[in-house]
This record gives sequence, C-alpha cells and structure tokens, in this order.
Amino acid sequence: MGLATVRAAVAEGASVTIAGRTMEKLRDAAEEIGGGTEPVVVDLTDEDSVAGLFAQVGEIDHLAVTGASGSTGEFLSQPVPEAQEFMDSKFWGAFRAARYAAPRVRAGGSITFNSGTYATKPTAGVAAVTASLAALEMLGKSLALELAPIRVNSVRPGTIDTPLWSSMSETERGEMFEAAAGRAPVGRIGQPEDVARAILFLMDHDYLTGTVLEVNGGESLV
Ligand SMILES: NC(=O)c1ccc[n+]([C@@H]2O[C@H](COP(=O)([O-])OP(=O)(O)OC[C@H]3O[C@@H](n4cnc5c(N)ncnc54)[C@H](OP(=O)(O)O)[C@@H]3O)[C@@H](O)[C@H]2O)c1
Repeated sequence: MGLATVRAAVAEGASVTIAGRTMEKLRDAAEEIGGGTEPVVVDLTDEDSVAGLFAQVGEIDHLAVTGASGSTGEFLSQPVPEAQEFMDSKFWGAFRAARYAAPRVRAGGSITFNSGTYATKPTAGVAAVTASLAALEMLGKSLALELAPIRVNSVRPGTIDTPLWSSMSETERGEMFEAAAGRAPVGRIGQPEDVARAILFLMDHDYLTGTVLEVNGGESLV
C-alpha cells in the first residue's frame, strides 16, 4: 500500500521520501518509479532510526505511515512479547513517525495512518492486532486536535491484495481472497491502488481531519 501511495503521489508531481527497513527494496521501488523519490532506511520500532529519518527530510507537506510488521496469534497461546511486537510496530511505530514528522509538516499539511477493518470488526485470533488498530485510529483523532492546523486522518482498509499475504500458500490465499470478494458488495477485494487513492484524497482534502475512511468495498457491512 505504501508503494502504491508513492506511485500515485509521484504521478501527481510530488517529491517523496520512501522509507522501510530494506534498502534493496527501496532502491528497486525508486528505480521502477523512475524519479521523484528518495529512499531512506527506517525501522519504525527504533526511535533513533525514526528521528534520524525526519532529521534528513526538511519541511514536508504530508506523511503517510503504511507499513508495520509482526504476527497474529491466538490470545491464550501467542507469547505476550510476540503480541507486543505488533503493537510496537503498528501503533508505536506510527506514534514515533508522527512525533518526529509533525514539527516538519507545514500548516494545513497532513498525517495519515493505516488502520484496518479489525479496528471495529474483529475476528477471533487477532486480539493484539485489533487493539493496535483501534488505538491507532484514536491516536489519529487525538492528534487532529493537538497538532492542528496539521490534519490527521486514518484509512481503514479491508482485504487488500498485497505481499502481506505471501506467507500463505497460493491455494489458501486464493480461497481467502475469493471468500472476501464474495462477501463484499462490490464483488472484489481491494488493490493497493484503492488505498493509495484514499490516502491521496485525505492528503488533498483540507476539510478532513480526525476522520477514518473505510476502503473496503462494503466488506465491513456483511
Ligand atoms: N493487506 C491487507 O489486506 C491489509 C488490510 C488492512 C490493514 N493492513 C495493514 O496495513 C499495513 C500495510 O499492509 P500491506 O498490505 O501494505 O503490507 P506489506 O505489503 O507487507 O508492506 C509492509 C511494508 O512495511 C514495511 N515495514 C514493515 N515493518 C516495518 C518497520 N518496522 N519499519 C519500517 N517499515 C516497515 C515493509 O518493508 P520492510 O520489510 O523492508 O521494512 C513493507 O514495505 C500492515 O500493517 C497491515 O497490517 C493490511
């Protein structure tokens, strides 16, 4: 979703700093996009790394925090430190990014977080993920007040076809995507570009702050 957002922003003429933990992936992305991007390594779980990223970037118009790492697990069997890893990456990672970006975001610029359907519609086996996403959305609303006139919003994606699911077998993934597409009123799952369009919409819309935009083809209604 981050990569699709970068592609869409560059297509609109933006200069984008793209960040993740793996320089090789960032360089490949920058090369594929073909200009308008600056790759910088960052680990959202490491405060010094996040501080270092924003020390390099100067004034910025918009921040989108899309990535996170960590795994899901059942409440009674997942080791607590493993459950904490997701919260540290998803919630605290976005917290760190906003904390160090905000002093550099121009007035009227924006910060966008990336939540997910579980924030309001959990299933069994994803308790730590659900709690992290719900906390993230409320962080966005709190910061919309505290950081104004910077605007702070979240997208809440449904099932999106990204490399996140690559640890599943092709068959398992195909069945999961098919079931999600069958449930969704629009009859398909999401593509990263669907989320990118929503993120750019939130960046561009100067009357939107403290909001959560669902990007799920109506999947959450069923
Ligand atoms: N795909 C879905 O259906 C879906 C739906 C709702 C919500 N979400 C959530 O949305 C987020 C993005 O999902 P995605 O599908 O775009 O995932 P993805 O394709 O796996 O991409 C995640 C990106 O985050 C980077 N990343 C991971 N941990 C990081 C860290 N600690 N510091 C900096 N960068 C880090 C990864 O690069 P490196 O590994 O190189 O760092 C990768 O570029 C995830 O948090 C996911 O839980 C996904």
